[in-house]
Amino acid sequence: MSFLRQLFQRKPKEELTPQKVKSYYEEWTDRYMKVFGDTFQSFRTTDLPSLFDYIISGSEMQDGQKIIDAGCGVCGPAIYFASKLNVDIQGLTISDYQCEIANKSILQAKDLIGKVAVRQGDFHLLEEYYSPASFDLVYFLEALTHSVDIPKVFQSCKKVLKKGGKVYIKDQYYNVTSDKKTKKEIDIAVQNVNRDFCLYIENIENLKNAAIQAGFEIKMCRPLQIPYFTEVGTKFVADNNITIHEKQKGLYDGTGPIFLIYYETLLEKV
Ligand SMILES: C[S@@+](CC[C@H](N)C(=O)[O-])C[C@H]1O[C@@H](n2cnc3c(N)ncnc32)[C@H](O)[C@@H]1O
Repeated sequence: MSFLRQLFQRKPKEELTPQKVKSYYEEWTDRYMKVFGDTFQSFRTTDLPSLFDYIISGSEMQDGQKIIDAGCGVCGPAIYFASKLNVDIQGLTISDYQCEIANKSILQAKDLIGKVAVRQGDFHLLEEYYSPASFDLVYFLEALTHSVDIPKVFQSCKKVLKKGGKVYIKDQYYNVTSDKKTKKEIDIAVQNVNRDFCLYIENIENLKNAAIQAGFEIKMCRPLQIPYFTEVGTKFVADNNITIHEKQKGLYDGTGPIFLIYYETLLEKV
């Protein structure tokens, strides 16, 4: 095996733990806020409200629901949803620092006190923080991609969801190609982002299988149906001097093979 391939070999799952993800976000949250504002999602639209309204519709979010925002960041999305709908959103983030920032924003948006709350914790262990069978929806917005144990997360969701409750996942997955050369380039780019963003990019088929194994019914699983505004994600990569492609010359400018695809998935606890 060449030196380069050894260097970029996919890290074993055991090396990525929630503790490592926590350390990463304690250190990197300020950098995220500088470029992404209060919503840390690389797949975004030019105006965030249109993305959020799209998510409300896809997740079947409705007035009166009890909801968990699993991997809530600094609660930008949760604050928007709670300002539009009469919902009770419990945000959960692995990062104490994000929790602190989110709490300040919730306090500032006075009308939302009692509608959005946030705490630190691990979304593999939802049952440790929340009552059994008491939620209508658990959603993950570019957050589940940090897990190396999706079956455990799904079991945890099942414990806190009511019968008929839903899981909504908006996330990034491995792009699949039959072209050998492009596949190698994609493999290297995915290995690089896994390493530099503390991720474990999955194949969409593995996600679907894990959902079926966990006993969920798949109500929807499709590529996102809205235009993708790439500039913000590209700027974050360039500003932080992150190398994505093996052949990248200088700062990342968004060119090169498409290595990630974005899907939304809606599951139902039957
Ligand atoms: C890319 S950010 C997305 C944040 C937020 N969903 C948003 O749209 O702004 C990923 C989030 O997942 C959270 N996260 C990652 N692993 C987690 C875990 N095991 N338990 C709870 N939160 C986790 C991180 O703390 C971070 O807030």
